[in-house]
Amino acid sequence: MFADRTNWNLSTNRLAQAVERQRSSGRKLLDLTASNPSECGFQYDQNKILQALQHRGALEYRPDPRGLKSARTAVAEYYQSLEATVPTEDVILTTSTSEAYSFVFRLLCNPGDELLIPSPSYPLFDFLADIQDVKLIRYPLFYDHGWHIDFHSLRNGVTPRARGIIVVHPNNPTGHFAKPEEMSQLQEICAVHDMALIADEVFLDFALDRKRRRSFVEEHGALTFTMSGLSKICGLPQMKAAWLVGSGPTDKKREGLARLEVIADTYLSLNTPIQVAAPALLDQRDGFQEQLMARVHKNLAELDSQLERQKVCGRLEMEGGWDAVLRVPATRSDEDLAVEMLEQLDVYVHPGHFYGFPADGYLVVSLITHEPEFLQGIDRVLRWTQGLS
Ligand SMILES: Cc1ncc(COP(=O)(O)O)c(C=O)c1O
Repeated sequence: MFADRTNWNLSTNRLAQAVERQRSSGRKLLDLTASNPSECGFQYDQNKILQALQHRGALEYRPDPRGLKSARTAVAEYYQSLEATVPTEDVILTTSTSEAYSFVFRLLCNPGDELLIPSPSYPLFDFLADIQDVKLIRYPLFYDHGWHIDFHSLRNGVTPRARGIIVVHPNNPTGHFAKPEEMSQLQEICAVHDMALIADEVFLDFALDRKRRRSFVEEHGALTFTMSGLSKICGLPQMKAAWLVGSGPTDKKREGLARLEVIADTYLSLNTPIQVAAPALLDQRDGFQEQLMARVHKNLAELDSQLERQKVCGRLEMEGGWDAVLRVPATRSDEDLAVEMLEQLDVYVHPGHFYGFPADGYLVVSLITHEPEFLQGIDRVLRWTQGLS
């Protein structure tokens, strides 16, 4: 009865089962995988947010397939604050970055066409690709005093069916930004092979050194779709508002955006109240970002100070984002380690294989976890791993 593309293994995996067991045991869980900022105890400008949701404009329906002009102008102003110029007509609003991905996949790919994705990276790509009948080709990132794109493998991965390259800037969970030189190479490869570049910048504002990084919206060498949204930059995933920005050679950009407009017009998925509220919601991001980065710095300092007191584990360098990657003895699979930590320590961490790390020995922890929980969880993990080597 059902299409092959939905033929997923729907059984609960071992780690999810272990989480269930731990939760039903009634013991307190130290959850080092927190990724929902609205549940991490940050103080939002509640008055501003709630007032924005009461705007009279929410009572009218004047659909615009690219999104309300006022909301697109707020997005253009966001880029202005990053010293980048984005014309409002180059912005298309979506309900989420995931929806933006699916629109762009539909724009670029016939069934079975290929997109290149970084590895390790964000695990949702597999489902997005399945649903859009796209085949993913992984290009490796390698670690050598920081993360780098393996351009040799990336170039080898480009087949006649390749339609685009995805880059996550900074990447999740490795926390590295594409360097200006890498950005140019990505543009050049896409231009030569007539592919599009798809840049996910949901964590762009979260550089550890708080220095502005160049956005892909400023790149014009190849057709580029840059995505972001309120879920990370404003810490408001519940609002379901995101966008994509087209840039690149004028004719291709115009045609790409015109076709995307038809896709967006078919769904008109973004609701009016959120679009009307979007300027005010974007406006309160600084206060949220400051708190979040303060926590990331505090947890990272705590992690480093605990790591200094032992020799068995380490952490990989990162430049931004909300996660840290721990290097632990690869005495068993990452999944086994994560399950044992849940069962023996009541600590929940993500195994590296969840993000496609090429070998065992990596665990991912969230730096936006409440500080006391983070301190205690890392303490338990590091004490326990001393017995592993
Ligand atoms: C790299 C990356 N892109 C996109 C998303 C999803 O964003 P949205 O909530 O806008 O779909 C996430 C969520 O964790 C992410 O890590």
